[in-house]
Amino acid sequence: MPDTTYPPSAELAANAHVDAAKYDEMYAASIADPEAFWREQAQRTTWIKPFTKVKDVSYEFGNVSIKWFEDGTLNVAANCIDRHLATRGDQTAIIWEPDDPSEDAQHITYNQLHSNVCKMANVLADLGVGKGDRVVIYLPMIPEAAYAMLACARIGAIHSIVFAGFSPDALAARVNGCDAKVVITADEAPRGGRKTPLKTNADQALLHTADTVKCLVVKRTGGQTTWVDGRDVDYNAMAAEASDQFEPAEMNAEDPLFILYTSGSTGQPKGVVHSTGGYITYAALTHEIVFDYHEGDIFWCTADVGWVTGHSYIVYGPLANGATTLMFEGVPTFPDAGRFWAVCEKHKVNQFYTAPTAIRALMGQGPEWVQKYDLSDLKVLGTVGEPINPEAWNWYNDVVGKGNCPIVDTWWQTETGGHLLTPLPGAHATKPGSAMKPFFGIEPVVLEPQSGEEIHTYPCEGVLCLKGSWPSQMRTVWGDHERFEKTYFSDYKGYYFAGDGCRRDEDGDYWITGRVDDVINVSGHRMGTAEVESALVAHAKVAEAAVVGYPHDIKGQGIYCYVTLMSGEEPSDELRKELRTWVRTEIGPIASPDLIQWAPGLPKTRSGKIMRRILRKIAEDDFGALGDTSTLADPGVVDELIENRMNRQ
Ligand code: WT7
Repeated sequence: MPDTTYPPSAELAANAHVDAAKYDEMYAASIADPEAFWREQAQRTTWIKPFTKVKDVSYEFGNVSIKWFEDGTLNVAANCIDRHLATRGDQTAIIWEPDDPSEDAQHITYNQLHSNVCKMANVLADLGVGKGDRVVIYLPMIPEAAYAMLACARIGAIHSIVFAGFSPDALAARVNGCDAKVVITADEAPRGGRKTPLKTNADQALLHTADTVKCLVVKRTGGQTTWVDGRDVDYNAMAAEASDQFEPAEMNAEDPLFILYTSGSTGQPKGVVHSTGGYITYAALTHEIVFDYHEGDIFWCTADVGWVTGHSYIVYGPLANGATTLMFEGVPTFPDAGRFWAVCEKHKVNQFYTAPTAIRALMGQGPEWVQKYDLSDLKVLGTVGEPINPEAWNWYNDVVGKGNCPIVDTWWQTETGGHLLTPLPGAHATKPGSAMKPFFGIEPVVLEPQSGEEIHTYPCEGVLCLKGSWPSQMRTVWGDHERFEKTYFSDYKGYYFAGDGCRRDEDGDYWITGRVDDVINVSGHRMGTAEVESALVAHAKVAEAAVVGYPHDIKGQGIYCYVTLMSGEEPSDELRKELRTWVRTEIGPIASPDLIQWAPGLPKTRSGKIMRRILRKIAEDDFGALGDTSTLADPGVVDELIENRMNRQ
């Protein structure tokens, strides 16, 4: 428990959408009568045909089904654009800030957004994309990424964004995983002064997909690309000719809006499927309430649209609210460590939302980079992606927020579509490192890990589960409903199991303690250790590999790989380099191993299961507490690993 809590200023609380009393009242109402609560909240969404039924949810294992507003119809693009045109057609919808600060920023009005999205929709329709078809988006952080998302929504096609940092192999797997008809990419992706050859990556990926997949190429840098006639389509040429009108399709509330692949504790990434009506309602509501967004505010979420944070809080939530949302192509440290704050000053940002890893990296550069800029427009600060350590929280609060901006530490997941645990800026006295309170309609429970019993005492610690549903909950795993049920509803029957551990303090506030499964969190990016392992063992010289996370000052967790070589192979620095490059090619730079330790053997039970608990301890240099090693087939392996741990690099 911290000694200090940070209440909102009286002024902020007085002007906030939700103050302490209102939170208590609305939260209680949302739990007492969820149907009535959500019926009312869903009125913020514009329906073509209003729904009559609020929800129909079963968490019963073997029979899991989640439906919200199921007989309503709507179009998400119309909600994000068309309904704003009469009142705010000339207001800026998107401010685009390029990687290179000497290049001009763009201000795209709602009218222009409408025209650009309709053009993109017409181009996609010309390529044969219709309702229910899948489109993979592999783009830099440029306005066309938002146009592409909204164009799919307008058509009723399902988009699946692949982060531009993923490799050709990862891209191919995702294109094939959802049988996409079209891949939208760009010539190159500028980032931090360097350029990723996106189109070249797409070319490589498309060698491993169906011949019918089309590649729609957006011009970003004008860099040279090879062209495959009959497959590649020049977006800019098509858009110049396309109509700027496109009738939005009438979609059912439960039609999928998008698929987004995310890592789990086993196997390859799974396609998380989000719905239309419930998703947009919850994304818009949380954007307004959690950031205390008001008419005219400039909102900046620094995430990439390749992650769910970018979906919900760069594009869908803000635009559904008619906000001005900032889209940044670059990185926090280019051209220097003051870039975030330069952009805040330049565009008069009011709400700023980023990840702890970025805060830690910038904290290390010193406060002078922040102090150079006028940040007086900032009102609310947010963080997401991983637990934030109190040092980073305090720096964010003192140096960036000058003690005047409440920090919302938002806990949620790709699967949840929007924030589940968070303080509200005008309502709660925050505690550094705590995700604080459930949002409206959210019922967190702490379970005893072994028995699965709910713990009702305070303070307590256990696994975090959710009772009941919320509108933006994922509906299924694309093409594999069984995996959906098994992953989230089988360990603790009757609950949604998030995969995180948590502590609940004496005030009932929540503190996320990290993943309890074999998922690690590297710079706020979720990584399945199994994925990195399978990439490593795909290398001809590797016999076996075990991957764990270890504490890393900037990244939160680093990727620690124990590698057993094929007999006859010798460890060497070159091989280490080769394996790093290999994993980057198999998955992408975000999966690059931080440390590799050569391991002649791995600690296994007699049934052959690798004991990761022990490997985690060695990686953390915490051998005092190895626990019971008596079930190991060969306990000598452990001593060997401890002794030779310094060969990690
Ligand atoms: C996992 C979800 C949802 C946006 C980005 C990540 C961790 C997320 C917090 C937070 C502590 C957090 C959890 C969660 N996480 N936010 N505020 N405090 N941990 O989405 O890739 O689906 O990862 O990120 O472990 O399960 P994701």
